[in-house]
Amino acid sequence: MSDVPTWGDQLRDDGARAIEWAATYLDTLERRPVLARTRPGEIRSRLPRRAPREPESFQAVLDDLDGLVDGITHWQHPRFLAYFATSSPPQAVAAEIIAATLNQVAILWRTSPLSTELEAVCASWLLDLLGLPPTWHGHIEDTASTSTLAALAAARSYTGKHVIACSTQAHSSVQKAARLLDMQVRPVEVDDAFRMRADLLETALSDGAVAAVVATVGTTSTTSVDPVAAIADLCAAAGAWLHVDAAYAGSSWVSPAMRWSADGVERADSLVMNPHKWMFVPMDCSVLFTARPEILRAAFTETPEYLRTPEDVESLSEYGPALGRRFRALKLWTVMRCFGQRGLQEHIERAIDLAQQLAGWVEADPAFEICAPHPFSTVCFRLIGTDAQNAAIVERVNASGDAFISHTKLNGRYVLRVAIGHMRTTRQDVMRAWDAIRTAAAA
Ligand SMILES: Cc1ncc(COP(=O)(O)O)c(C=O)c1O
Repeated sequence: MSDVPTWGDQLRDDGARAIEWAATYLDTLERRPVLARTRPGEIRSRLPRRAPREPESFQAVLDDLDGLVDGITHWQHPRFLAYFATSSPPQAVAAEIIAATLNQVAILWRTSPLSTELEAVCASWLLDLLGLPPTWHGHIEDTASTSTLAALAAARSYTGKHVIACSTQAHSSVQKAARLLDMQVRPVEVDDAFRMRADLLETALSDGAVAAVVATVGTTSTTSVDPVAAIADLCAAAGAWLHVDAAYAGSSWVSPAMRWSADGVERADSLVMNPHKWMFVPMDCSVLFTARPEILRAAFTETPEYLRTPEDVESLSEYGPALGRRFRALKLWTVMRCFGQRGLQEHIERAIDLAQQLAGWVEADPAFEICAPHPFSTVCFRLIGTDAQNAAIVERVNASGDAFISHTKLNGRYVLRVAIGHMRTTRQDVMRAWDAIRTAAAA
């Protein structure tokens, strides 16, 4: 018998150390300041300039990590209330360990039949959970930025046109995709609730040059909802592709009470939603659905000889830019199974309820004003005062370590933005953040 430990033995040892490290991290997380307390370049200056010449132990890596933990902004902290939170529940962490162990590279069906078929199954489960058309095709990309890029590439090759219309509140990934695809963005103004104005979209579509319209359900700044049904009518009349960006708010449709915001999305040519935002799946996991898979496939299929196989079966790499694809479906499948529709719905509804409570406290305080409707779990508000005072509040709250909040600009004014979305955020957490905001305002 050889004394050399097998990979299984090594994983048992180092895996146990890693799990212990990660579990201790989770158990002590709430004592840490949410936003990293480190200056740019500080972490680099603490690390060797060159890789080690000789092998080191995994324990040495963990020991160093202990000393570097102040360089982490704690996305798993329940008072991470900036941007859009992403949760990494223990079951999903465990699934990621298995995915990394299997290290699938699903370039073709035959290189990972399980990953390919489970991905398709997860996509159709999601359609069912969210009340979307059961006939849609779905596949997983890393991020909504890539999903939107893929959808717009399909729209461009299908229509032969180079203009994208979206509201002035659309996510910057649309602008980025346009640059990459050599397309132009035609911005459409919003109404006073930050929704795309359909009357102005009609004008924007009138010259017949638009390849695609991106409608957003749950915009990044305020979570406003574009009038998708009216936009779908206009797209149909103009022959434009309709892409719906529901990266954040799409998860809310697991709650039947939130399906109002899905009105019209069933008429989309493509739709992106991110389980890694508000469906409690760790980064990264974005699902791109399409009613027109053949067009996406035509836009992306590239089959050199070395990728030809005898099976007549689809490979999901034919629907997007990446060839090598990791086994993201495993964590999505795990989360859907370990929480079930009921668990997911409860978490979503709780976050919405907490946001409505926060909005109520803000409304009741005459020093503050609400700045936008808040139909989901994000609230935009400001101290009635100057932009500088509001910016100082964000900096003070974040420096306190109590919570991490972000900001946006609405109608030219600096606005505080609190987004509730982590699974572990409680009413006490939101109250504590609100206290920190009021204390910072009083200072
Ligand atoms: C509405 C919307 N779309 C797209 C994105 C981009 O998401 P990703 O980071 O997955 O590319 C975001 C990110 O917050 C978003 O809010």
